[in-house]
Amino acid sequence: MDIARTPSTPEGNPEMADAAQEPRQPAAIRREDYRPTAWLVPEVSLEFDLALQATRVTSTLTVARNAAADASPTIRLNGEGLEPMAVKVDGAMIDSWVMDDADLIVTLPGDAHSIEITTSINPAANTALMGLFASNGMLCTQCEAEGFRRITFFPDRPDVLSTYRVRMHGPKTDFPVLLSNGNLEEQGDDGDGTHWAQWHDPWPKPSYLFALVAGDLIANSDSFTTMSGREVALNIWVREGDESRTGHAMESLKKSMRWDEEVFGREYDLDLFNIVAVSDFNMGAMENKGLNVFNTKYVLADENTATDGDFDGVEGVIAHEYFHNWSGNRVTCRDWFQLSLKEGFTVLRDQLFSQDMGSAPVKRIEDVRVLRGAQFPEDSGPLAHPIRPDSFREISNFYTATIYNKGAEVIRMIRTMAGEEAFRAGSDLYFQRHDGQAVTCEDFVKAMEDGAGLDLSQFRLWYSQAGTPKVTVRLEHSGDTATLHLSQDVPATPGQPDKHPMPIPLKVTLFDPETGNRAAGHDGEQLVTLTKAQASLSFPGHVRRPVLSINRGFSAPIVIERDIAQEELVFLAAHDDDPFARYEALQDLVVRHLKDAADDRLDDGARKHGRAAIIEAIRSVMADDTLDDLMRGELFILPSETYLAEAMPVADPGRIHAERQALRAAIGAFLEDDFVALHTRASDVPYSLEAAARGARKVKTQALVYLAAGNPERAAGMAAAQYDAADNMTDRQGALMVLCGLSAVERTNKLIDFYNRYQGNPLVIDKWFALQASSMHPSALEHVKALADHPDFTMKNPNRVRSLYMAMAYNPHAFHAEDGEGYRMIGDVILALDPINPQTASRFVPPLGRWRRIEAGRSQLMREQLERIGKAPGLSRDTHEQVSRSLG
Ligand code: ARG
Ligand code: ZN
Repeated sequence: MDIARTPSTPEGNPEMADAAQEPRQPAAIRREDYRPTAWLVPEVSLEFDLALQATRVTSTLTVARNAAADASPTIRLNGEGLEPMAVKVDGAMIDSWVMDDADLIVTLPGDAHSIEITTSINPAANTALMGLFASNGMLCTQCEAEGFRRITFFPDRPDVLSTYRVRMHGPKTDFPVLLSNGNLEEQGDDGDGTHWAQWHDPWPKPSYLFALVAGDLIANSDSFTTMSGREVALNIWVREGDESRTGHAMESLKKSMRWDEEVFGREYDLDLFNIVAVSDFNMGAMENKGLNVFNTKYVLADENTATDGDFDGVEGVIAHEYFHNWSGNRVTCRDWFQLSLKEGFTVLRDQLFSQDMGSAPVKRIEDVRVLRGAQFPEDSGPLAHPIRPDSFREISNFYTATIYNKGAEVIRMIRTMAGEEAFRAGSDLYFQRHDGQAVTCEDFVKAMEDGAGLDLSQFRLWYSQAGTPKVTVRLEHSGDTATLHLSQDVPATPGQPDKHPMPIPLKVTLFDPETGNRAAGHDGEQLVTLTKAQASLSFPGHVRRPVLSINRGFSAPIVIERDIAQEELVFLAAHDDDPFARYEALQDLVVRHLKDAADDRLDDGARKHGRAAIIEAIRSVMADDTLDDLMRGELFILPSETYLAEAMPVADPGRIHAERQALRAAIGAFLEDDFVALHTRASDVPYSLEAAARGARKVKTQALVYLAAGNPERAAGMAAAQYDAADNMTDRQGALMVLCGLSAVERTNKLIDFYNRYQGNPLVIDKWFALQASSMHPSALEHVKALADHPDFTMKNPNRVRSLYMAMAYNPHAFHAEDGEGYRMIGDVILALDPINPQTASRFVPPLGRWRRIEAGRSQLMREQLERIGKAPGLSRDTHEQVSRSLG
């Protein structure tokens, strides 16, 4: 039997001294400090003796010196919260190991050895949900980024690639299903109520892609025949009762597999693909090799419990994780600074997939809205970082909109400059050149250069410079020549005071305002790449001043500041043939007006005039029968309060909210009959998942949103009727969302009805919390406070925490309550959640980190909360890093 022993501590470690009082905040890890691993681990064998409260793990590592690295007499095996119960080298028990902080250091005399380590862990006590944890009686893992070290000691870094053999053993009734990566090799029954299974994954992988699941699950099973004719068994594992809601996920999986073959030439490489849905999960999902683990939110969907948006979310996340099999697993990251290598590319791939599955322009607009809502604020605040960061303390804090969404935009620009065909050639070369390797963003860029035939020397700045470039645009017209003047400015960000100009690909066209057609010489659009700080371009042959349409399709992730007349924006909002540019013109029209209004720059006349132009634009969107309802619905969406705040150097959230609501009320009142007619027309369309029906549902609820502002009483009656008539969640949730913002009796009735109807369905009860926390209701904050005491609320389930508090933190009028109550609540949440789940806790810091861009009174209150959190003893590394960066 193994003998437990007390770990020794390396002497004279200065950091150990104060460890008793304060958890040490380790020094930042820097990208430039990367060194190849001294030891490789070609093979891993893991044995799990599974139990909810004490799982014993024995791992046997075959280790070999890495000839490509400096020789080291010791191997560092990362651990977190682990104690080695026994350590053997080449079969013999040793006691010459030491602990360095949480890591295990073993001295190895030769060039190749085997190391066997036994540890014991308590999954039931693992509320951080990293490593092996329990969820609803099942066991599952989350190892990215550094969770594997909570299971066993291991060189837990993505450039160590190993083949895994996993044998697990446990009680049959608790864990009838035993899953791991790769293929099932063998299984057996011990005849004493326990059983076992042995899995083998032939593909070498980093430890972050390891996964194990044990539980009482049932599968929706199907199969897929790959392009070379191989049959792949597909299973989506859920808890009994949920299987009827897995159909959409399965269809999405098969579509993703086909699409990746057709569009990227990527074929699946195992005979089995498993997906497991778990209800306690920090993120959306995880791409473990052959065994994806998903938040139930991105698996379960049917028309009665999921909205159209939820259906899209499932399709997109299923695709994203599946696509990782190539962009992430077959070719992985050398180190975590390269995270965008796999995430940026995979987000782009899932975005392109979703564009192909539905409405491409609508998907593009949605993706830009996400970028502007989440990434732009990050890029202009204290947490700004390049898509390839230079340093971090806690990598979990870098699963950001910058790494993911800006990362995708950067690769999308390469695709725009290369063209689809050359981009595919670059992608093919990347996969061919680096298959089986752990590589860098630089390797990706180089493969793109070589494969697509591009020179990306200057373009590499997009990887190293943070901040959203601002491009100032002016069109000058004289004689018969139009001259486009462009200048760019990349703002300073933390640690990067001076920036170089970047290459900015801009899709441009010119319209003749009188004919509404493209101006002479512009039958197509032109790709103009601004590479310098300033440039001017001449377009001859224009007797009349043309109207400029620029950054069409959002060809670059930048802010455009254009010197353009209101009439020209109105023209583009009605006539631009690029759907994104049309949307953008309408957005600009509204942003300008609301900025001026919130800054007190409008007298009564100007306010009237501005509103009239917007109302006219909305009316023409309503009447334009060349638009489908999905696109019409997109054009109706007003710029968010966050986006408006972002457009101002210092924002007053109260003013922004009031002005935006007043504009909405004016539109709703002025176009009341039109919105009622639209609502009636859309209500006649029967439920289906077809675009037309989805579009009808979208505009139906938007009509209610405008009416709720313009004529609340009428809207309350209509929303209640929509709620009662609903035969699907989209209509029901839409109606309840509108009611939640009103002080009508229908609000209370329908909230009670909704809760009773869906009690016991956690994903729908999450909606019930979120609708109230994100509502326009003046008392939203009080509602949140009361909901925190609801018996269904728990800090232990991340979905539930997000549904209440993340919804509130991103509900500007609640979060930015003038007395600071919203900030205080989020401060309390962070402090209460940090010891339970630091990763989820630290996600609440960024909203407070916006303090520099908010008017003085609120700014001070936000800062006070950050300071209060920063002073709390025993703060996690996650939260500590975010708070200190936010104050810094
Ligand atoms: N790789 C996963 C995805 O984007 C995300 C996992 C992140 N996990 C974490 N604990 N930070 O698909
Ligand atoms: Zn991903």
